[in-house]
Amino acid sequence: MTTPFVTLEHRGAVALVTLNSPNGLNPLTHELMTALGDTLQTLDEDTQTRAIVVTGSARAFAAGADIQAMAQMTYARAVNENFLAAEWQRVSTLRKPLVAAVRGYALGGGCEFAMICDIVVAGETAVFGQPEIKLGLVPGAGGTQRLPRAVGKSLAMEMNLTGESITAAQALAAGLVSRVVPDVDVVNAALAIGQSIARHSLPVLMAVKAATCRAFETSLAEGLAYERSAFHGCFALDDQREGCEAFLERRVPHFNHR
Ligand code: CAA
Repeated sequence: MTTPFVTLEHRGAVALVTLNSPNGLNPLTHELMTALGDTLQTLDEDTQTRAIVVTGSARAFAAGADIQAMAQMTYARAVNENFLAAEWQRVSTLRKPLVAAVRGYALGGGCEFAMICDIVVAGETAVFGQPEIKLGLVPGAGGTQRLPRAVGKSLAMEMNLTGESITAAQALAAGLVSRVVPDVDVVNAALAIGQSIARHSLPVLMAVKAATCRAFETSLAEGLAYERSAFHGCFALDDQREGCEAFLERRVPHFNHR
C-alpha cells in the first residue's frame, strides 16, 4: 500500500511506515494525512501486523500542518469543514502499538503525531516543538493536551507560549521520548522495539495499549476498574493459558493471537 506520500514495508509482524514528501520536511497536507490514515487503518485491521513503526526522513519526522493551506483558511471553512478533525481522529484511535522513530524536526503537527504514537525514539539531533504561536495559531492536534500530560505543565507552557523547540536530550529528560540514539540508528532501534512487542499476543497487546491510554483519559478509580476488567478478560484467551504454561514449563510461548 505504498503511495507517493507514504512508503510501507513489512518486517515480519512489524510494519514500517515512512512519510515521504519531496523535500523531506513532510508537511502534513490533506493528501499526506489521508494516505497515512489509510495505511495505518489497513495495518490496524491486518491480523499479521502486531506493531507499527512510523518514521520520516533524515531531515524531518514532520514539519507540521500545511502552512500553505492554513494561509488561505477562514474561520467559517475551518468550522464548517471541521478542519483537521477527521484525519487526526483516525490516526489517534488505532488499537495496535505505534512506535515513532523521530529524526530531524518534529514540529507542530509533527510533534503532535509523535505524541499520538505510544513510544517515541529520537535521534540525537531531533528537535521537538509547538511553533504554532508564531503563526498566530493554537496547536490544533493535541499540543495543549498531550504535551502537558507528557512533559508537565511548566515545560509544555514554555514550548506552547514561546514556540521555541527542545532538543532530543531535553525531550528525554522531560519524558517526551523513551530513548535517544545516534541519528543513523533511530529506525533500527524503533524496529527492534517493534519486534520485541510483536512477539507477544496481539489481543493482549491491544488490551495493554487501551488500558495504558486510559491513564491519560480518566480518573484513577475508573482507570483501575478498566484495567481489572481487561485483566479478567485475558482469561478468555488461549494465549493467556499458553503464556502461563510456557513459563512453568521453562519454554518460549507460542501465541496464536486468540
Ligand atoms: N507547511 C508547508 N510548507 C512547509 C512547512 C509546513 N509546515 N514547513 C516547511 N515548509 C516549506 C517551506 O515553506 C519551504 O518551501 P519553499 O521551498 O517553497 O519556500 C520548504 O518547505 C523548505 O522550508 P525552509 O526553507 O523553511 O527549510 P529550513 O530547513 O530552513 O527550515 C523548518 C526547516 C525549521 C522545519 C522550517 O521549514 C519551519 O519552521 N517550518 C514550519 C514549522 C511549523 O511552524 N510547524 C507548525 C505548523 S502549524 C501546525 O502544525 C498546526 C497543528 O497543530 C496541527
